[in-house]
Amino acid sequence: MPHSVRAVVARAKGEPVTVETIQVPDPGPGEVLVAVQACGVCHTDLHYREGAINDEFPFLLGHEASGIVEEVGEGVTNVAPGDFVILNWRAVCGECRSCLRGRPWYCFATHNATQKMTLDGVELSPALGIGAFAEKTLVHSGQATKVDPAAPPEVAGLIGCGVMAGLGAAMNTGNVGRGDSVAVFGCGGVGDAAIAGSHLAGAHTIIAVDIDDRKLEIAREFGATHTINSSAEDPVEAIRALTGGNGVDVAIEAIGLPVTYEQAFYARDLAGTVVLVGVPNPEMKIELPMIEVFGRGGTLKSSWYGDCLPSRDFPMLIDLYLQGRLDLDRFVSERISIDDVEEAFHAMERGEVLRSVVVL
Ligand SMILES: NC(=O)c1ccc[n+]([C@@H]2O[C@H](COP(=O)([O-])OP(=O)(O)OC[C@H]3O[C@@H](n4cnc5c(N)ncnc54)[C@H](O)[C@@H]3O)[C@@H](O)[C@H]2O)c1
Ligand SMILES: [Zn+2]
Ligand SMILES: [Zn+2]
Repeated sequence: MPHSVRAVVARAKGEPVTVETIQVPDPGPGEVLVAVQACGVCHTDLHYREGAINDEFPFLLGHEASGIVEEVGEGVTNVAPGDFVILNWRAVCGECRSCLRGRPWYCFATHNATQKMTLDGVELSPALGIGAFAEKTLVHSGQATKVDPAAPPEVAGLIGCGVMAGLGAAMNTGNVGRGDSVAVFGCGGVGDAAIAGSHLAGAHTIIAVDIDDRKLEIAREFGATHTINSSAEDPVEAIRALTGGNGVDVAIEAIGLPVTYEQAFYARDLAGTVVLVGVPNPEMKIELPMIEVFGRGGTLKSSWYGDCLPSRDFPMLIDLYLQGRLDLDRFVSERISIDDVEEAFHAMERGEVLRSVVVL
């Protein structure tokens, strides 16, 4: 019997989201029904609502979540009813050309649930294949990663997207190491996680760049050694001044704007690395002198989900949290109800929060 549950739906481009009663099927083969306990509001949910990801409305939003496995379908062995899980959007296939080359974190054919959740008979597009601003959601078993239930749900859920994306942009994609200098553009949940990841990885200089002084103050708590308000001074000049005139080893863009990508490009040292983790919209373009791309050497990379492997990284990060070595509590700015997601988008736009977390 399908389950009727309350969920947050974006029906049309740019329109406020609404809470609707949707239908969630019982899990079929390889699928898992999860009772969602907490789901963070990520900027990517807002990108979906704005129509900046694709046009497959109506969207079932929410993708940064944790919960308890309620039922499993035929053949599911990695989780069982009662398990505490973080949902992920990288259920690796094990069979695509990237998986077969031993690089599953780039998997090109990740799994989602086969059956669709619906609203009034219309198929919903779950954000990032998850859809977790909902009392229950249906995912592929590989999208549920079992972790230590000692972690509070609202903290654990954040590992499921933004925190993993930021930590991994620094630790996996940017390969930040001991003694490196790093600049992070944009100090929202993702950028602050990149700062925390750089700190964990032993970076020597960590420069936070934002246009909001409140964000810069919080960035220091995550390990930023210097801060730059780029609405008041040129961040490229300021970063060079802080690094002996050279620029940083790794520049991480965590906003998704051409202007900040170009700042990151020019703020890195020769042979340095630029990591783009912010999500651009399809209209955006960057213009760079090709001689600078060539002449500065180094690497220009993009980071999807921090190049993470959920089965490897989620339990490890939860353990670091439980040991007191990774402050995840600081990311939770407020706990809200499922009825407050639209207001949480506005709080995000006003720069008031790192993460609003829906608690169910
Ligand atoms: N690549 C991935 O896998 C992945 C995963 C999750 C989120 N994201 C993306 O990362 C980006 C950040 O997400 P978030 O949830 O932290 O968003 P957020 O809105 O909480 O944070 C953005 C920050 O950028 C700052 N900012 C805005 N314009 C700026 C400018 N011109 N110069 C400097 N700072 C500026 C804001 O003040 C804010 O602090 C989004 O684009 C989101 O879609 C990517
Ligand atoms: Zn694969
Ligand atoms: Zn996200």
